[in-house]
Amino acid sequence: MWGFISCVVLVSACLCLSLFLRTKMPSLSRALGRSEDAFISALCAIPVSKKQQSPDFRLSVNTLLRNGILPTNGDLQAQTEALASQLKQDSVVEEIFAGRGVIHFRVSRNLLVQKVLEQLCQERHKFGVKSELFDGLKKGTTVVEFSSPNIAKKFHAGHLRSTIIGNFIANLKESLGNNVIRVNYLGDWGMQFGLLGAGFQLFGCQEKLKKNPLQHLFDVYVQVNKEAENNEVIGQAAREFFRRLEQQEHQALLLWKQFREITVEEYQQVYKRLGVHFDIYSGESFHQQQAQEVVQQLQRRGLLKTTEKGTGVVDLSSAGDMSSYSTVLRSDGTSLYITRDLAAAIDRKERYNFDEMIYVTDKSQGIHFQQLFQILLAMGHSWAERCQHVPFGLVQGMKTRLGEVVFLEDVLDEARARMLRNMSQSKTTKEMVYPEDTAEKVGISALIVQDFKGPLGSDYKFDWDRILQAQGDTGVFLQYTHARLCSLIHRYGDREEGAFDPSLLLDQRSISILQHLLRYDEVLYQSVQDLQPKHLVNFLMTLSHLAASAHRELPVKGSPQAVAQARLRLFSGVCTVLANGMKILGITPVEKM
Ligand code: ARG
Repeated sequence: MWGFISCVVLVSACLCLSLFLRTKMPSLSRALGRSEDAFISALCAIPVSKKQQSPDFRLSVNTLLRNGILPTNGDLQAQTEALASQLKQDSVVEEIFAGRGVIHFRVSRNLLVQKVLEQLCQERHKFGVKSELFDGLKKGTTVVEFSSPNIAKKFHAGHLRSTIIGNFIANLKESLGNNVIRVNYLGDWGMQFGLLGAGFQLFGCQEKLKKNPLQHLFDVYVQVNKEAENNEVIGQAAREFFRRLEQQEHQALLLWKQFREITVEEYQQVYKRLGVHFDIYSGESFHQQQAQEVVQQLQRRGLLKTTEKGTGVVDLSSAGDMSSYSTVLRSDGTSLYITRDLAAAIDRKERYNFDEMIYVTDKSQGIHFQQLFQILLAMGHSWAERCQHVPFGLVQGMKTRLGEVVFLEDVLDEARARMLRNMSQSKTTKEMVYPEDTAEKVGISALIVQDFKGPLGSDYKFDWDRILQAQGDTGVFLQYTHARLCSLIHRYGDREEGAFDPSLLLDQRSISILQHLLRYDEVLYQSVQDLQPKHLVNFLMTLSHLAASAHRELPVKGSPQAVAQARLRLFSGVCTVLANGMKILGITPVEKM
């Protein structure tokens, strides 16, 4: 009996390893070529835990006991040792030995070096994303709705967060093979357009509007709001203008259209600086008509109740006692934010037939989205199960030299100016043709990394000096490491090199780097599970720290040709993964700094 069991364990343990390795290094498991019948496959499910900071892994005796592979009586340690000695070593696992309560498997360093670098060289920007870890994930159409500022109002720090987080989610999903549709849902309808329209007729100026549209619209909006406080006539004019809009009156609509078009054009310029694009600029205005249809559908389904005040509401309480409800219709028959969101969601499902939809806004809108999804489900739209709100916390104290943030452009200008000042002392900057361009990209990386470091749900305090530090876990440090590796590669070699000797990379520093690179797919996997960018940021920070110390301790210059060659291959691999990861975060890697 024992002989049979140990024989099974022998094969299954190897298969466990092979399974583990297969997710890591597909070619390796193929080299192992074990047969897989159902019984062995079942045993393969036994988890093999990996040692942190090392390519090796282990099988605990407890696991073997739990799975009935080791007998519960007798001398456990002796049995473990006997088992370990029976397990076969091969080209992958070069040593197997028993410790206290555990069997250790030591992976061949040579093979590790060779396989990781080979895979990197073959897959390049696809490294990690082709992993078998992603085989089970459904690849379909994902709508990501993000940024979504309000015309004529401030583009506050929350909109910036939504923009970069949404972009990250879209990039991540896209890199894993999804068809991603990026939607910007502008706040382009509502009573404020009554005010803006009335305000523009009083204080607006076409010339200023053409010259500096966002600023002028904002100024008019602020002014008319102030005036409206003590002047009832303005309030009336605003209501009148909005009524004309709702009734699709030509002149009013023309002005509104102009505001919208001009705003979108301006935003497109700024999004470009950020490296962000949208497939669709939709907005609340698009769903006016449909919002009324939604109300009718709610009525038909018996979900709409009319309150004493004449508003239309949907009861969301489980007891049906109105302890929780959502208002979908004003007493004057006009729609609300949530009504337009209901219509927009239904419309998107019809248009794009998405498999999932993700909304990125600050956490204060949590209840809004919860109610939105709940009403959709109640209306019979089971796809609402696959709609998700990704909430984020508040940023405090984001200021520019102009004071509180009003326009996105000012934040980008400030990041660029400050970064340019920090860079101005360096020799490389003096040699640059467009230092502003580099300063802009690095400045934006700093903003992104600072924002992505912690859990998205947390609030944080913004501090320009801290985020722009060259040392420490900043975007500047990431860019700096990437640029240094690029210049090393440019100077001493090219990326397409052929053979190298893996035995020249067996030192602890190189092994730690390769070991870390091997985790990249797991990190992407984790990120796509919870849509938090912190995993990727942490991974890239650690990679940069490992690379910075390797850069110091493993010189290329002055080393024998073969050693230099092998190290360049290593650095080139790090550089590729750094760039891949940064791009997913929404950072454009710079080659010089
Ligand atoms: N425009 C809104 C705001 O600035 C955000 C829109 C969020 N998206 C949505 N589908 N409701 O608060």
